[in-house]
Formats: sequence, C-alpha cells, structure tokens
Amino acid sequence: MRPESRRNSKSSFAVEVINMSASYGDFQTLDKVCFNASTGELLCIVGESGCGKSTLFNVIAGLIEPYEGDVLSYGVTLSKKTGRVGYMPQRDLLLPWKRLISNITLGAELAGIEKGVAREQARGLLPMFGLAEFEKYYPYQMSGGMRQRAALLRTILTGHQVLLLDEPLGSLDALTRKRMQQWLLKIIKNHADRTILFVTHDVDEALYLADRVLVMSSRPGTIVYEADLRSIPQETAVIKRESLNAIKRQVMDKLGVNERDSYFRHHAHR
Ligand SMILES: Nc1ncnc2c1ncn2[C@@H]1O[C@H](COP(=O)(O)OP(=O)(O)OP(=O)(O)O)[C@@H](O)[C@H]1O
Ligand SMILES: [Mg+2]
Repeated sequence: MRPESRRNSKSSFAVEVINMSASYGDFQTLDKVCFNASTGELLCIVGESGCGKSTLFNVIAGLIEPYEGDVLSYGVTLSKKTGRVGYMPQRDLLLPWKRLISNITLGAELAGIEKGVAREQARGLLPMFGLAEFEKYYPYQMSGGMRQRAALLRTILTGHQVLLLDEPLGSLDALTRKRMQQWLLKIIKNHADRTILFVTHDVDEALYLADRVLVMSSRPGTIVYEADLRSIPQETAVIKRESLNAIKRQVMDKLGVNERDSYFRHHAHR
C-alpha cells in the first residue's frame, strides 16, 4: 500500500519500533527500544561502540528477530521479512568477483528494477560519487573510501523508501564526507518519500544532517534522549548557533562525554 493512503491512519510511520528487545543467545543487546520515523525524516542514531546500533538495523532489516516488541513499516511488521528496506551494513559487502557497476546495481536488480535502467541510473550518479572512471574496477582495486561510496550508491539505487545507513561516511576524508553529507540532504529534500536512518559516531555530523538525533544508552541499548533539530529557532545566526550548542551539550552529556573535562584532562597530561 502506498504511504500516502495511510498517512492519516495510526500506522503511518515509515519506521515504528515498539518496545523492542533483542539478544544474541543469552547476550542481550537491545532493551525496549522505542522510536518512530515519519516519511521524509532523516534520523541520526548515536551511541557508544557496542551499544547495539548495528543490531538495531539488523532487526529493522528483518535479519534478526526481536524476542520482544515489534518493528513496523507503514503498519506492516518487518520482524520476519527482509527486502522491504534498503540496508547499507557497516561492512560494505561488495562482491569481490563483480565489477563496480555490477556491484552497485545489484540491489536495484534484486528489488526488481530492470538491469539497463539500473545501469543508466547508476552511471548518472557515478560522477557525483567520484567513481566515474572506475566502473570496471573490482573491489580489491578500490580504496576503502571508494568501496564505501559504492556501497552507499548501491543502497540508494535500490529505490526503497526506507534506507538504513550504518556509518556510511565513516571512512571518507573530511572533504568527500562533507560533499556526501550535502548530497544526502539534497536527496531527502528532493525525495520527500524517502526516510533515512543513519548511524554515526560523529555528533557534529548528526547535528548537521538530522531532523532528529536519537541517543542510545550503553548495552543493552535503548533510546535515552531525542533532540529535534527542526525546533531550533532560526531568528539570527547567533541564536541558531547557541541552540545547536545547547543540544550538542545535551547529546554529549547523554553519551557520557563531557567536552570541558576531556579538554582539561588532555591538557593536564601534556
Ligand atoms: N552476531 C553476533 N553474535 C553475538 N554477539 C554479537 C553479534 N553481533 C554483535 N554482537 C554483540 O552485540 C553487541 C552490540 O553490537 P553492535 O554491532 O550492534 O554494536 P554497535 O553499536 O553497532 O557498535 P559499533 O559502534 O562498534 O559498530 C556487542 O557487544 C557485540 O559484541
Ligand atoms: Mg555498528
């Protein structure tokens, strides 16, 4: 069912995570996670290493079944289903025996897009991703950053409305990273039906990209704080900056990082 027709119903969320807990055997990783994402939103999820962010994405992608709670997309439970969302895992998972162009169109083809159409779309985007001359390269011939951009492009080309991006820009240099961030914002603006969940370790990146930032506790992970960046007053640049800084302090605080402390500690040891 198209999301528009459900927009006013109870289950209109692109992603709805309800009291969801998950574990690997006896090892609990997620504890009653609760949040939702509306169509067109970009949510950034931050949390310390090992708190369960990738596990959360594995559950939303339907790769792991939660033992408690539910995960829905437009009212349909995702728990046991795969293939409804575009997922870029933390490791790029490019197929070593396939050339770049085949790797990046793979997801689209699996999603039922015709090969020629997928290739044409992909070729149109290769320059933006800095991959234009590398169409015939195999993954082993590409740098870490190139592989990451290829994996991101592949996920976007699947055409799925919900995209899960697990640290998609983590191994890019600062300039390329900035360019890709701007491109992602443009995607969201131009495709109001796309919803993106984005894991990052970089709080500034989260504050720059997100409509909302969700902070996860340490394992077993649960959402302990939510900041809505859209509510920031925009009257003047100073007011905007101060509001952003206040949110950043809250996020850092919830992450257990006190910037002032770490600055003084760092300099005290020099
Ligand atoms: N397949 C698995 N089997 C057993 N335990 C796992 C498995 N995958 C992850 N874990 C454990 O679950 C916990 C959460 O891992 P997860 O990968 O979700 O963390 P993360 O928040 O994504 O961390 P990072 O920021 O380092 O990527 C960790 O303690 C990890 O050791
Ligand atoms: Mg992870």
